[in-house]
Amino acid sequence: MRILITGSAGMLGHDVVAAAAAGGHETVARTRAQLDITDATAVEAAVSGARANVVVNCAAWTNVDDAQEAVDAAHAVNGAGAGNVARAAAAAGAWTIHVSTDYVFDGTKTEPYVESDPVAPQSVYGASKLQGERAVASAAPGRHTIVRSSWLFGTEGPCFPGTIMRLAAEREQLTVVSDQVGCPTFTGDLATALVELAAGAGDSPTGADESPARTADPPLGVLHVAGGGQCSWFEFAREIVARASLNCEVVPVTTAEFPRPAPRPAFSVLRSERGSLAPTLPAWQQGLARYMSARCAGGIATPVSSAGGVSGAAASRTSDPLAAPGMRMPSP
Ligand SMILES: NC(=O)c1ccc[n+]([C@@H]2O[C@H](COP(=O)([O-])OP(=O)(O)OC[C@H]3O[C@@H](n4cnc5c(N)ncnc54)[C@H](OP(=O)(O)O)[C@@H]3O)[C@@H](O)[C@H]2O)c1
Repeated sequence: MRILITGSAGMLGHDVVAAAAAGGHETVARTRAQLDITDATAVEAAVSGARANVVVNCAAWTNVDDAQEAVDAAHAVNGAGAGNVARAAAAAGAWTIHVSTDYVFDGTKTEPYVESDPVAPQSVYGASKLQGERAVASAAPGRHTIVRSSWLFGTEGPCFPGTIMRLAAEREQLTVVSDQVGCPTFTGDLATALVELAAGAGDSPTGADESPARTADPPLGVLHVAGGGQCSWFEFAREIVARASLNCEVVPVTTAEFPRPAPRPAFSVLRSERGSLAPTLPAWQQGLARYMSARCAGGIATPVSSAGGVSGAAASRTSDPLAAPGMRMPSP
């Protein structure tokens, strides 16, 4: 099977390329520099030229806080751009797997969010991702899967665990928000699930490759796929510090103490109501263990990140609300 991955240089995109290759599939990886998904003509040419069976769209505007100001740009990528990808895929006979987010919910529930729960994004980023979901469904009716995930962390980008480890090595104390609860998701685990979904995609439009054959269509519509369990950013940070054996106190604080430009859902735990159709990921602690092993194996020394709710600095990656006093966290 041949899989086209957009946004392939991103944290998730990189791992999807790796997981597809590991699964024996042919991959066509396109970075932003190679394919800007806001360029509908370029997307159409790239998708038809790739002769892919499945297109996995990992390209996105993920700077949550900046999106509050850059409204049109965020919507252009996450909304119209997602639609461009799905339209081109449908025209080429390929299935679209599109990645979305827990930020389409308002976070007022106290039970896990399932696929049929009403959406009510609170931020520009969330609204732009919801626009993307709708654009994909409209552009590729009957041939799309929208995978909502949450609190991604991985070795190929700035992320919360990397930031916590770096800051905890520098400081005696970190303050991290304890009133936002979600599902940390290791991109390695999510990427494997996305490729498994892709591998279920229906008959090949090309039939030309010798890589593993597809067996059936992936599930149509929205699927929630996130790390198992749930925790607050504070609990996540505490686990990271303990696993890294760092001598740093982690102190819980409230979101109100560290206001950010974009509101984050207070509770965005994702569960699936679609039974065996939705891949189940390992517990977030297992994902964290694999992330830390991969970091060691890859010799990652001091990753920088914008992450969840650490006091003071601007965290800009999708979920991360972290920063330390006086720090300016880099954008993803
Ligand atoms: N990170 C999270 O916590 C989280 C949580 C839930 C869902 N998600 C979703 O998961 C997906 C992957 O996110 P991620 O964490 O891997 O983000 P990421 O590391 O920021 O990757 C996104 C990639 O998309 C690229 N991109 C941006 N604009 C583009 C355009 N116009 N055309 C083509 N590529 C473009 C980026 O390139 P540049 O770096 O050059 O801009 C980057 O390589 C996204 O759909 C995101 O909304 C993320």
